[in-house]
Amino acid sequence: MWTTVQLSLALCVGLAACRPDVAGTDAGPIMFAPGDPVWGLTGAQRNLFGRGRLVFNREFTPETGLGPLFNSTSCAECHEDPLAGGRGDEIEVHASAYDPVSDVCDDLARQGGPVIQQHATPALEAALGITQEPFPSAATGRAFRATPAIFGRGLLDAVPDAEILARADPDDRDGDGISGRPNRTADGRVGRFGRKGNFATLREFNAGAFLAEQGITNPEQPAEGTIGGAAIPPGVDPVGDPEIDQAALDQADAFVRFLAAPSPLRNGDNERHGGDVFSQIGCVSCHVPTLRTGPSSVAALSNKEFAAYTDLLLHDMGPDLADICLGLATTSEFRTEPLIALRFATHFLHDGRATTLDQALAQHGGEAAGARDRFKALSPADSAALMAFLKSL
Ligand code: HEC
Ligand code: HEC
Repeated sequence: MWTTVQLSLALCVGLAACRPDVAGTDAGPIMFAPGDPVWGLTGAQRNLFGRGRLVFNREFTPETGLGPLFNSTSCAECHEDPLAGGRGDEIEVHASAYDPVSDVCDDLARQGGPVIQQHATPALEAALGITQEPFPSAATGRAFRATPAIFGRGLLDAVPDAEILARADPDDRDGDGISGRPNRTADGRVGRFGRKGNFATLREFNAGAFLAEQGITNPEQPAEGTIGGAAIPPGVDPVGDPEIDQAALDQADAFVRFLAAPSPLRNGDNERHGGDVFSQIGCVSCHVPTLRTGPSSVAALSNKEFAAYTDLLLHDMGPDLADICLGLATTSEFRTEPLIALRFATHFLHDGRATTLDQALAQHGGEAAGARDRFKALSPADSAALMAFLKSL
């Protein structure tokens, strides 16, 4: 008679995703479904992950610290499809100002930027008569930002800077038309999160998201934001800061950090051929299929290979996609979007403007123009195979 493990493995064959607790043997690769944690967490880490999901899902109200300006009431309200940590249909408004004389990008923090919140609490509306943050008068650009899936971001966080820098080619020395470069924070660290790659660590992004998205102060972002640069009127935000404590922040951070990258579907010949086409026409110059993490204090994130489909570098994507600068990123530079969990996407690109993969590829300009043109020149069979491959990610 078959043991449970053998039976589970047999059932796994041909299934979209197998639970890591059934497939985690030397009989085959571990398969992750969306929402699964990475494999090999300690009991304490799994506990943090579970508690963190609750914080990620928690709906804040003005009485528990929401606002006074905010974009949504919970992380999961935006990152929701197919479940917590996934994509969402919310589109945010960001702003910045580029000064061509000094060649400096200003994130307009003094006027409430770069995230311009689209909602105000009733108390703020009563005090100032506004229902959203005023758009900064000094802005030279406005950007729309679709909500990405955030699976596998703990793995991306654990990729060593050296691995990212090794792929940078700012002056295009190899002459392939592709000249990726890293973004840098004001204090010089390599950036990798946000569609402009302007955040260096997942930790800073998560703590910042509580404040920028929900108006929730926390021990790592202790000060409430301004209203377009002006102080919050008295009495409008009665909850004492920080509005969540260190434990809640640590839990939410652990939930995001430990979310695995969902495994690509098991491929047939057509998808496998599509993967070859993806390489041959140069998509892999930016969408690097596999990255490897370095040593991490979390054993489950240490020295792991995973399907990332990004180089975490900025690339000039041409004038059609251009919007705002952020950090070193010019208006037309974007971090290569990881193609993790692409099969769940219903809209594509930084502002969600494309509703089909065809449209998303047609919009690839600048450094990606060569790959786009080779895509356009594919035979119908090769093109269909590439699409099938992308839909398996
Ligand atoms: C109003 C919708 C909304 C809410 C609420 C929200 N996010 Fe996001 N999230 C976004 C958008 C839009 C982006 C892309 C931002 C950008 O490109 O700069 C993003 C990006 C991210 C990223 C970076 C992904 C990457 O690939 O670089 C992480 C991590 C993240 N969010 C975590 C969170 C956490 C944690 C919370 C709750 C504290 C949260 N988000 C709340 C919309 C939202
Ligand atoms: C020069 C680098 C580069 C090359 C080459 C490139 N891409 Fe991209 N790709 C990007 C960047 C940067 C983005 C994000 C653009 C944005 O959000 O506006 C992106 C976005 C995408 C998206 C949308 C992802 C999402 O979640 O919205 C898909 C799909 C995609 N690329 C597939 C491809 C395919 C297929 C090829 C080969 C034909 C390719 N790319 C070639 C850099 C590149």
